[in-house]
Amino acid sequence: MCGIVGVLGQHEAAPILVEALKRLEYRGYDSAGIATVNGGALDRRRAVGKLVNLSDLLVHQPLAGKSGIGHTRWATHGEPNERNAHPHQASHVAVVHNGIVENFKDLREELTAKGLSFESETDTETVAKMAQYYLDQGLSPRDAAEQTVARLEGAFALAFLFQGEDDLMVVARKGSPLAIGHGDGEMFVGSDAIALAPLTHKITYLDEGDFAVLTRNSVEIRDAKGQLANREMRTIQLDTTQVDKGGYKHFMAKEIAEQPMVLERTVASYLNDGAIALPRNAEGAAIDFTQIDRLTIVACGTAYYAGAVAKYWFEQIAQIPVEIDVASEFRYREPPVSPRTAALFVSQSGETADTLAALRYMTPRADCILSVVNVPESSIARESDFVFPIHAGPEIGVASTKAFTCQLTVLLAMVLEAARQRGTLDDATLAHHVETLTTLPGMMSRTLNIGTASEKISAKLAEARDILFLGRGPLFPLAMEGALKLKEISYIHAEGYASGELKHGPIALVDKQVPVIVMAPRDGLFDKTVSNMQEVMARGGKIVLVSDAVGLAEAGDGVWKRVEMPACDDLIAPILYAIPAQMLAYHTACAKGTDVDQPRNLAKSVTVE
Ligand code: G6P
Repeated sequence: MCGIVGVLGQHEAAPILVEALKRLEYRGYDSAGIATVNGGALDRRRAVGKLVNLSDLLVHQPLAGKSGIGHTRWATHGEPNERNAHPHQASHVAVVHNGIVENFKDLREELTAKGLSFESETDTETVAKMAQYYLDQGLSPRDAAEQTVARLEGAFALAFLFQGEDDLMVVARKGSPLAIGHGDGEMFVGSDAIALAPLTHKITYLDEGDFAVLTRNSVEIRDAKGQLANREMRTIQLDTTQVDKGGYKHFMAKEIAEQPMVLERTVASYLNDGAIALPRNAEGAAIDFTQIDRLTIVACGTAYYAGAVAKYWFEQIAQIPVEIDVASEFRYREPPVSPRTAALFVSQSGETADTLAALRYMTPRADCILSVVNVPESSIARESDFVFPIHAGPEIGVASTKAFTCQLTVLLAMVLEAARQRGTLDDATLAHHVETLTTLPGMMSRTLNIGTASEKISAKLAEARDILFLGRGPLFPLAMEGALKLKEISYIHAEGYASGELKHGPIALVDKQVPVIVMAPRDGLFDKTVSNMQEVMARGGKIVLVSDAVGLAEAGDGVWKRVEMPACDDLIAPILYAIPAQMLAYHTACAKGTDVDQPRNLAKSVTVE
């Protein structure tokens, strides 16, 4: 989704802004632009498409000045063209914006009636024009920005720059994250700490409703009530090597490959002396799963599928009934919430607008708000009673990989602790499960050996128009995740189905052209999945079977392609089978030559509804 950067610096701003925007590319965008103030003069450059187009433009039409703002735009209001690209400028003010101004039509009408005209279709131009209107009324730049922000409804992060003000930037946050970076006689602004990583490690995250006035040497933050606010300045140890490709062709390839190492860290952080150790709440209290009769899990995209796997685990292992929904549906469904219900939100970014709204629906209704997040400073984390960090490190590829397996790992640790507290497992089984969890990094490493097979099969999959994924039990959500991964980055139509549901409709799609990828670890449901597979083969369908050596042998002849997985404990199969889901998608996308890390139309963190 849109990315914002800003600098009040000691050096030329344009190259710094473009480099910072590059670090936000992963969020997804379709145009970009920067504005600077140089000797008081405000000017801007904007270009459609990738940042290289903006860089090329800057070569021919450079922009001088040590103060500036920059933006990568993921189109919401109006198509991605130069007119709609940010920064938006009225004569003496330039603005960059992430989010949606919901009342922009009313504001635009109001301003049009006052004689102002608009050149773009965006909601953001209204913000620039409104600020200009207040400047024209004689307000100072700071007050003009404050008055403007007070008129806005919706979600936004904003940065304002003003003509004649080389040492001033005004920023505001409501709904979309914004971080201030403190330099030495310099001040920076970014949508996240990754944007600012090489510039400074000293970061202040703005809170909901904050409004801040920045100069090179000062920051004044006011909260939603207009009171001066003291926000903590943290030192973020974000190693910049975590945000480069490390020799891989794509971030996604790097992030798939680093899963054993990352999972080792995640597993270790949830174990203490061979037992599960979950993080405590702000008061130091441990979560009490015996006080919970029901669990509601809400998430979006890949995080939703992690939650869908966890539903099987919570119900089967810890005997907690689970309701799960995608956040965009849940937030408007107005579900009744019974007593002793905990709500669990899964989100890599911790900023997904729908998930956050669902959390806010549950805050007054549920007994307890839990979140599984990758970004501990995120809005979802900050509004939760218990936060379970996944420790995946920055995930740059739009298609989520290591965050998914880390989410599953943390959810499994929570389930095992819930089972211990609720006494739903005998000691020996519990000890065996905890031991199995510790084998995960090693097993993940062995699973990565399927790379060559995946590459060969994907060369064939790349020719398909439709692909089906099948799975049963906790592998059903994996089938859906496999289909999502594939369609996200290879643009091949794919659907994930419960194996048993095949004959209720999707089997009509099966013919020689449609590969059917079957996720079938040799668990208690293996024979049933093999029967479903036979139904496909009987109709000429091309089966790609993902199973271990014995499973592949038992499935017999007729299978089109095989992916041999290491034999594993049923408990961790959904985590390991994420690897073939990721790799088949990755290699198919490479075979098709699509933009793996920044697939068309997608955003990494969806901060608008
Ligand atoms: C977007 C991303 C997905 C992600 C989903 C939820 O759609 O492209 O990869 O799974 O948002 O994001 P979250 O940050 O809440 O996990």
